[in-house]
Amino acid sequence: MSRQSVLLYRKVPPEQLQRLRQEHEVIEAYSPGEADRETFLAALPRVAGLIGSGLKIDESVLDRAPNLRVISSISVGVDHYPLAALHCRSIVLCHTPDVLTDSVADLLFGMVIATSRRMFEMARLVREGRWRHSLQAEDYGWDVHGKTLGIIGYGRIGRAVAQRAALGFGMPVLYHSRRPVDSGLPPGKARAVALDELLAESDFVVVMVPLTEQTRGMIGAQALGRMKQGAILVNAARGPIVDESALLAALDSGHLRGAGLDVFAVEPLPLDSRLLDHPRVLALPHMGSATHETRTAMADMAVSNLLSVLRGDPPLAAFPTA
Ligand code: 8YV
Repeated sequence: MSRQSVLLYRKVPPEQLQRLRQEHEVIEAYSPGEADRETFLAALPRVAGLIGSGLKIDESVLDRAPNLRVISSISVGVDHYPLAALHCRSIVLCHTPDVLTDSVADLLFGMVIATSRRMFEMARLVREGRWRHSLQAEDYGWDVHGKTLGIIGYGRIGRAVAQRAALGFGMPVLYHSRRPVDSGLPPGKARAVALDELLAESDFVVVMVPLTEQTRGMIGAQALGRMKQGAILVNAARGPIVDESALLAALDSGHLRGAGLDVFAVEPLPLDSRLLDHPRVLALPHMGSATHETRTAMADMAVSNLLSVLRGDPPLAAFPTA
């Protein structure tokens, strides 16, 4: 197997970089800024593999990379890649499912608790020296245990959230998915329902679908209007699934009690976004999988995927582009 050129556009731990270098020439272009953008574009004509995440790879990039055989994404989500164009160029797309499932589910459930119990608001109250007496009703939060959790999208992460809710917090779980899937929980703990029923019955609505043309904007004014009075929305999937201005309207009207957001239409979140300092919005910096353990496992899997494809072997996780 001949040494080829690989373009790394996201920093990985040194041992993973070493694994890449052992088999291929590695061109590194990951710090934001013009310099690395130029390195990235200049390298494209001779690379056989791309490995990274967080960068939109469109057809203009593929047009510049005639020798490209594989893109190994350090992510489970693949909405940054032109699937049809990859398919007709027979370029393999790999991703990193499973290794991040529990970290994202932990954060998601943490957001359910943090928004409902107003943890960040109260932490701010203490930090700003406004804690003067024992809390009064206007500062109370709402219980999580026993409340109904609705999960839109019942894949690996949705399922892991359901386990935490049903088995750890005694919460009835409602879930909605494109295809009928079993709950993976003991009988009676979770129910597959239509989207409208989920929106109308859930105290918490968790969004965990991939971003596709079908799911873009699916949580708009209509869906938000169908949610229960006083419900809380949590999104750690992709920002464009939720219509942010409709969400702000639902929060301002008091229809929704709060929102926990780890993803946004524009990332990083622009400083002039009303979501940034809305009193009942918990805004996080797309940190679902951002733990030392999980990001290391993701990089490890992405490097294995890339090395396998360039050896002519099947990768651990290829994403079907057809
Ligand atoms: C990634 C994610 O870290 O895996 C995904 O789909 O959203 C995160 O885990 C992020 O995509 C990197 O930009």
